[in-house]
This record gives sequence, structure tokens and C-alpha cells, in this order.
Amino acid sequence: MKKSLVTGITLLIGLALPAMAMAAIDCMSCHGSTGAKTPLHGYKVGYEVSGHATHGNARYANAEGCQRCHTHEGYLQYVEMGFDTAKFDAFALPKGADGKPAPPPFIAYPSQPGCFTCHDSHTTGDFGLRTQKADPKTKAVTNQKITLYNKVVYDGGTGNLCASCHQARGDAKAAIPAGKGALSPRVVHHHGPEADMLVGTNGWEFAGKKYGSSPHYMMVKDTCVACHMSQPKGRFSFSPKVGGHAFTVVGDVHEAEVANVSSCVSCHKDVKTVAAKKYIDTGFVLRDTVYFNIKAKADYDGDGTVEFVQAEVQGLLDKFVNKQGTGVMQTMANPMFTKEGKFANSKAVYTNDQLGAYANFLYVIEDKSLGLHNTTYALQLLFDSLQALDPKFDVSKRP
Ligand code: HEC
Ligand code: HEC
Ligand code: HEC
Ligand code: HEC
Ligand code: HEC
Ligand code: HEC
Repeated sequence: MKKSLVTGITLLIGLALPAMAMAAIDCMSCHGSTGAKTPLHGYKVGYEVSGHATHGNARYANAEGCQRCHTHEGYLQYVEMGFDTAKFDAFALPKGADGKPAPPPFIAYPSQPGCFTCHDSHTTGDFGLRTQKADPKTKAVTNQKITLYNKVVYDGGTGNLCASCHQARGDAKAAIPAGKGALSPRVVHHHGPEADMLVGTNGWEFAGKKYGSSPHYMMVKDTCVACHMSQPKGRFSFSPKVGGHAFTVVGDVHEAEVANVSSCVSCHKDVKTVAAKKYIDTGFVLRDTVYFNIKAKADYDGDGTVEFVQAEVQGLLDKFVNKQGTGVMQTMANPMFTKEGKFANSKAVYTNDQLGAYANFLYVIEDKSLGLHNTTYALQLLFDSLQALDPKFDVSKRP
């Protein structure tokens, strides 16, 4: 009885959706009121409170190459183009017959990323990822590697899915000199350059300096997915705002910020979160809620105490711009920021190293982990950038 019902429904829907009928997908394995293998609504609860569902920028960022990361429809085009960014950008920013830019294609009714942005369940019958291919015979799954803007290849398991969107939107080595000395409020990294940061690439790297990579890229299997989607064991632990399909490591539970450390503990025994030091808001404050209690290896920001890693990174960011007006970008000749901490929109001609320093400052901010994704690389970029803007800056603690 159940079997024939399922076949019946499949056939019925199949008339409307011919491709689906071919695949003979068992609808009830996901949609059954009894015996469904997957609690769809459970996953959905997390997704619905996630930034993907709630930030709402799909409608705004639906043209000029934005749509490949911001809209469901644009991402599917990008998938079809084999995750080839150059190809997508050529499509999204077309040249007309006269060689001048033609109007970019836009999506009239763009949607925020949803289940079928990342999964193709109605074609595959499962929850494989858009970045995955399953061998029809052996069922072995391979993860599509992602080539970042500067041609460095990201290969981090299921996290490749995240890296296909959470990446910088330019190559610092090319984009900074192309600026011809002009300061612009946004440089290379846009929002969400996490894949680049995790690998340890695409900062403005200064001549003669050496840069490190991250154990979090090399050692954490499935990279982003492991830390951001792991679920704690045991009941009543977290609200849907943390882990799983909320895609967050930290989120509020009972109106208090809590971190999900279930993925960290295998490597960092005893890690937990502690209340963060409150910083004065300069517009560049990242976290005023919690820090992970992992002590830094040195007093990087030179305030006299060795604090937790993220507090030290925030301390260094404050050396660039702060409310007291003492940041190097505020006190340099032709300041980039006003004494009050506002972008100065200076028309001065800057050196590549000065513009690179500014790009690095934004890069660490936009990565949004306060150096946690790749502590060594973030610290190195910050120290070298402070030195480029103020040659007297003490860089003896640079890792
Ligand atoms: C592997 C799991 C899976 C299977 C199998 C599956 N679906 Fe779905 N279906 C989903 C998910 C996930 C959603 C989106 C849920 C949401 O947003 O609420 C969905 C949504 C839908 C919707 C709502 C419309 C939409 O696009 O959001 C319909 C109708 C639907 N499925 C019909 C079917 C039919 C008919 C079959 C069998 C041919 C089927 N599904 C098989 C996972 C599945
Ligand atoms: C390579 C993928 C990618 C492209 C292309 C892209 N974005 Fe984004 N954008 C992101 C990601 C990822 C985030 C979320 C970052 C985060 O919050 O950490 C984001 C965030 C944003 C935000 C929210 C910023 C905030 O602080 O809340 C805006 C606004 C935005 N993008 C606009 C645009 C516009 C406009 C374009 C095109 C000119 C564009 N984006 C192109 C990936 C992209
Ligand atoms: C931004 C991308 C993204 C979106 C959006 C998304 N998922 Fe997922 N989903 C993932 C990733 C990544 C995994 C983990 C895959 C792994 O660990 O192999 C996953 C895993 C799953 C699994 C578990 C599959 C298994 O075999 O254990 C289910 C079920 C699922 N998602 C359902 C949903 C539903 C329902 C929605 C919409 C409400 C949704 N997903 C939206 C990325 C996404
Ligand atoms: C289709 C592109 C895409 C994929 C795939 C994707 N993201 Fe996103 N993500 C975005 C965009 C775009 C935003 C910002 C949404 C907006 O502003 O409307 C975002 C927002 C977020 C946010 C919220 C950030 C904030 O500042 O609140 C987190 C966390 C996040 N993504 C993590 C992940 C993780 C982890 C994965 C992989 C499992 C992933 N994302 C996969 C495009 C993507
Ligand atoms: C070693 C674990 C780890 C890995 C691997 C990792 N992250 Fe994170 N990520 C974190 C932690 C911890 C934070 C800081 C969370 C906080 O303090 O709110 C963070 C912050 C973020 C944020 C800002 C979150 C927010 O809610 O504002 C985004 C977006 C993000 N990561 C995306 C990614 C992406 C994309 C990848 C893979 C390219 C990745 N992360 C890899 C642990 C990790
Ligand atoms: C697979 C193992 C692994 C996992 C999982 C992992 N880490 Fe790490 N992490 C490392 C290693 C190895 C280092 C480098 C240790 C060192 O240099 O002292 C490191 C470094 C760090 C550092 C920087 C320490 C420093 O001073 O340079 C922080 C902070 C950190 N991890 C936090 C986290 C958090 C938070 C999570 C979970 C969200 C996490 N890690 C998950 C292995 C891991």
C-alpha cells in the first residue's frame, strides 16, 4: 500500500517535473509523515536563523558578479560554470560590441541562499553538496577544489562549499598596484574572505618577510564545516542559533552568547569561552561578547598583559584606528582616518605598501574571527602593516 502510494505521487509530480520522474526519487524518505529518514524541519530551524536566511542582501547584490555568492540563482549559474570565477565575471560584467562595459545581467527575483543552493535533493535524492560528485558505481564522493582569485587552490573537504563563496574578490598582488596610489574605502577583500585567510594567502605581503600558514587549514578535516556545523553531543545543549545549519560557532542561548567548542576540544582540551573585554566602538570593533580562552604566545599589542589570542588581535587592530585618535592611520602624514575614527577619503597618493597595509587591516576585520582562523598569518600581516605605516612601530613580538 505505502509503496504504491509513493510511486503514485512520484508519477503524479513526475508529469509536472519530468526530470524528477527519471530519477525515481523516494519522496517519503524526506517528506513522509512517518518513517522519514531526515528531520527536515529540524535542519530548517537552524537555517532560518542563519545569516544566509536573514541578512537579506540577495535582493541588493543581484548583479555585477555579486549574484554568484548572494543569490540562489546566481550561485547555480556559477556551479554550472564549474566554479570558474573568471568565466563567471566575464559573464557578469560583459563587454558590448564597442568594447565598453554592457549592462550586467541581473536577477529580477533573486532569492537568499536556501536548502537547494547547497543541496540538490530533488535531483540527487540525497543531501550531497553542490561541490560534491558521487561516482555512480562506487558511490565514492569527491569534493570540488576551489580556485581562489589569486589562483591559490582551496582544498578543504566539505568546507570547499563554503570557500566557493566565502573568499576574497580580488588578487591583492594585482589590485593594490592597479589602484595607482588612490585610497578607496573597500579594497580587495570585500566581506567574508575566510577561505583566503584560512589558507594564509592574498594578504599584501611585504618584500623580505616570511609568512606562515594555519594548522586549522592543514589539520581540521572538512575545515569550515567541522568548526561551524558540528553539533554538541547530549540534549538541551544549544539553541538552533549555534552550530549546525545556523553555521555559527558563537550564538546566543538564553540571551547569553555561548560558543560551541565541540569541534575544538579534540585538539584544544579545556577550551571554553569567556566574556570579552569591552572595547570602545570605533566602527571597527568585531567582538564585544566572548573570546576563546586560548592564551596568546606573547603580549602582541604591548599593553603589559598576555591576553587571549583574540584580545591581542583586537589590541593590534586598535593600533591602526581608535577613538583616542592615536592610531597610526590617524597620526601618519595624509591620514587615512580622522581623529574621530572616520574614513578620511584622503586624495593623497599613497605607496603600494601603505595601501597594502590598509587592505590588510580590512582583511583581518572582514575575516571576522579576530585572528582565530589563522593566528600566525593575521598577526604577521598586522605587524608588517603597522610598521609600513609607522617605521618606528615595535615589531619585536612579530611571530
Ligand atoms: C533528500 C530529501 C528529499 C527528497 C527525497 C525529496 N525532497 Fe522535496 N524537499 C526537500 C527539501 C530539503 C525541501 C525544502 C524544504 C523547505 O524549504 O521547507 C523540499 C521541498 C519540497 C517541496 C516544496 C517546494 C519547494 O521547492 O520548496 C515540494 C513540493 C517537494 N519537496 C516535493 C517533493 C517530491 C514530490 C519528491 C519526490 C519526487 C521530493 N520532494 C523528494 C528534500 C527532499
Ligand atoms: C565571492 C563571493 C561574493 C561576491 C562576488 C560578493 N559578495 Fe557580498 N558577501 C559575501 C559574503 C560571504 C558575505 C558575508 C560575509 C560575512 O558576514 O562574514 C557578504 C556580505 C555582503 C554584505 C553585508 C555586509 C555586512 O557587513 O553585513 C553586503 C552589503 C554585500 N556583501 C554586498 C555585495 C555586493 C554589492 C556585491 C557585488 C558588487 C557583492 N557583495 C559580491 C560574498 C560575496
Ligand atoms: C550554505 C549551504 C547549506 C544550506 C543553505 C543548507 N545546507 Fe544542509 N548541509 C550543508 C553542509 C555543508 C552539510 C554537511 C555535509 C557533510 O558534513 O558532509 C549539510 C548537511 C545536511 C544534512 C545532513 C545530511 C547527512 O547525510 O547527514 C541535511 C539533512 C541537510 N543538510 C538539510 C538541509 C536543509 C533541509 C536545508 C534548508 C533548510 C539545508 N540543508 C540548507 C550545507 C547547507
Ligand atoms: C552561495 C554562497 C555561499 C555559500 C555556499 C556559503 N555561504 Fe555563508 N554567506 C554567504 C553570503 C552571501 C552571506 C551573507 C548573506 C547576506 O548578507 O545576505 C553569508 C553569511 C554567512 C554567515 C553569517 C556571517 C555574519 O556576519 O553574520 C556565516 C557564519 C556563514 N555564512 C558561514 C558559512 C559556512 C560555514 C558555509 C559552508 C557550510 C557557508 N557560509 C556557505 C554566502 C555563502
Ligand atoms: C578551527 C575552526 C574554524 C575553521 C576551520 C573555520 N572557522 Fe570560521 N570561525 C571560527 C571561530 C571560532 C570564529 C569566531 C566566532 C565568534 O567569535 O563569534 C569564526 C568566525 C567566522 C565567521 C564570522 C562569524 C559570525 O557569526 O560573524 C565566518 C563568516 C566564518 N568564520 C566563516 C568560515 C569559513 C567560510 C571557513 C572556511 C573557509 C571557516 N570559517 C573556517 C572557527 C573556524
Ligand atoms: C584538528 C585539530 C584542531 C582543531 C579541531 C582546532 N584547532 Fe585550534 N589549533 C590547532 C593547532 C595544532 C594550533 C597551533 C598551536 C600552536 O601554534 O600553539 C591551533 C591554534 C589555535 C589558536 C591560536 C594559538 C596561537 O597562539 O597561535 C587558537 C586561538 C585556536 N587554535 C582556537 C581553536 C578553536 C576555538 C577551535 C574550535 C572552533 C579550534 N582551534 C579547533 C589545532 C586545532
